[in-house]
Amino acid sequence: MLSIVVLVSGSGSNLRALLEACDNPLYPAKILAVGADSAAAGLEHAEEFGVPTFVVSEGNFDSREAWAERVLEHIRFLKPELVVLAGFMKILPEAFVEALSPGLINLHPSLLPDFPGANAVRDALAAGANKTGSTIHLVDKGVDTGPVISQRELEILPGETQAELHERIKVIERKHLVDVVKQIAVQEIKLEEIAR
Ligand code: GRF
Repeated sequence: MLSIVVLVSGSGSNLRALLEACDNPLYPAKILAVGADSAAAGLEHAEEFGVPTFVVSEGNFDSREAWAERVLEHIRFLKPELVVLAGFMKILPEAFVEALSPGLINLHPSLLPDFPGANAVRDALAAGANKTGSTIHLVDKGVDTGPVISQRELEILPGETQAELHERIKVIERKHLVDVVKQIAVQEIKLEEIAR
């Protein structure tokens, strides 16, 4: 049983998909706790499923490094095998990434390396791209630059708004995340090999 900590900043619909999957006794992973950098709406999903939560707000710390160290303390206490960033909108310092690698993955709403950063959906539309998708990748010290674990493509429809496109990507992302976490759990995907 793969033990996981999920970090979120937003609505947590991807987290919810993983919580629902983990609720099935046949699914080979378990969420130990969900962390956030603010009172994110997504934490409510964890509470509904009886999964413990923690919040560490960057504003309460003198530096990003000190904030990340506190988040890491929570994670070290829990000792998960995998940490999933599911809409966690903070850039993590190198020491945090090194402490958890290769067991630290991120979900991103574009086909990386295209459109990294916080505005991937807007940027894909602005560039006139005709396809985009979902990427799950190892986190490294860059922003959305770590080795790709898995990608799923999606055609961009003519006249589609940013909100419409992001929602269609999220439908793909939710299933993608559940599938990839399962593959990691059953060793069909080996993160140490992808990290090499
Ligand atoms: C997802 O599109 C994820 O790729 C991006 O933030 C969004 C989070 O959505 N990093 P949700 O909070 O899981 O609904």
